[in-house]
Amino acid sequence: MNCARILVARAIFPPTLARLRQHFEVQDNQADNAWSAHELAQQLADKDGALLTGVQRIDAPLLAACPRLRIAANMTVGYNNFDLQAMAAAGVRGTNTPDVLTETTADFGFALLLATARRMAEAERFLRAGRWQDWRYDMFAGAEVHGSTLGILGMGRIGQAIARRAAHGFGMRVLYHNRSRLAPALEAACQAHYVGKDALLAQADHLLLVLPYTPQNHHAIGAPELARMKPGATLVNIARGGIVDDAALAQALRSGPLAAAGLDVFEGEPAVHPALLDVPNVVLTPHIASATLATRRAMAELAADNLIAFFDGRGPLTPVG
Ligand code: DGY
Repeated sequence: MNCARILVARAIFPPTLARLRQHFEVQDNQADNAWSAHELAQQLADKDGALLTGVQRIDAPLLAACPRLRIAANMTVGYNNFDLQAMAAAGVRGTNTPDVLTETTADFGFALLLATARRMAEAERFLRAGRWQDWRYDMFAGAEVHGSTLGILGMGRIGQAIARRAAHGFGMRVLYHNRSRLAPALEAACQAHYVGKDALLAQADHLLLVLPYTPQNHHAIGAPELARMKPGATLVNIARGGIVDDAALAQALRSGPLAAAGLDVFEGEPAVHPALLDVPNVVLTPHIASATLATRRAMAELAADNLIAFFDGRGPLTPVG
């Protein structure tokens, strides 16, 4: 048993909590209260480490109030809740959970693409409302997925897993844009072709966003980018809210050029821009791309492993920054 004190900031799987208790003095939040920044700082004030769910901001004001803190372990792959500069200045490490969620998240990205292009949510709402009277030749006719061109913006592990599904499973032409180009062997495995962002916007029948959120990526897809997309294109965002300008997106769904959008993440979530709730041609899900029980367990376990390895003196397993 280590003498470190750990805060688990939200409810997690009881077996992971039990394992943490074998190593640390643990304060849990199985009541699953969503603490304000001030409450989080109060709870963390006497802790050495934290297990977080990726939404609790670790920034300079919090760090000033938590002088003992040495590590913040997200149970998410994204870590835009970390102010890495402030953490480095305070000597606090950050960790995330890469790899364990890659295939599950790629499955969901593909599911959302299919649901969006084939208008499944709209069609289900129509059926549930008792409005289905007969068969019509163009009823909920959507866009083709197989054989079409998929554009992927951001080509990390999840982007590559989506590309493999698209190329090998659906015979799609896969184009991608990323900060850096993949090594030739990786490009070949994904059958993906590197293009500039403008070409990606202009050529994709379906554009899937999987890039991390950074201040530089804020509104990477805004009104000008949406205007450059192919008429009738589909946009799918499983990356982070704030990468898309949601107000501009609602406008592009109403008056073109987009035919449809699938969104798992939102600017300012859990709030959703009201204009998006008013347009029919959008599939909305509450940030669940990694949500299978097996994957969420693996994410929680990896976050716990990071804390255990760090306080054992082995260093964090999957550090960020
Ligand atoms: C992640 O792991 O970053 C997912 O978006 C879940 O928050």
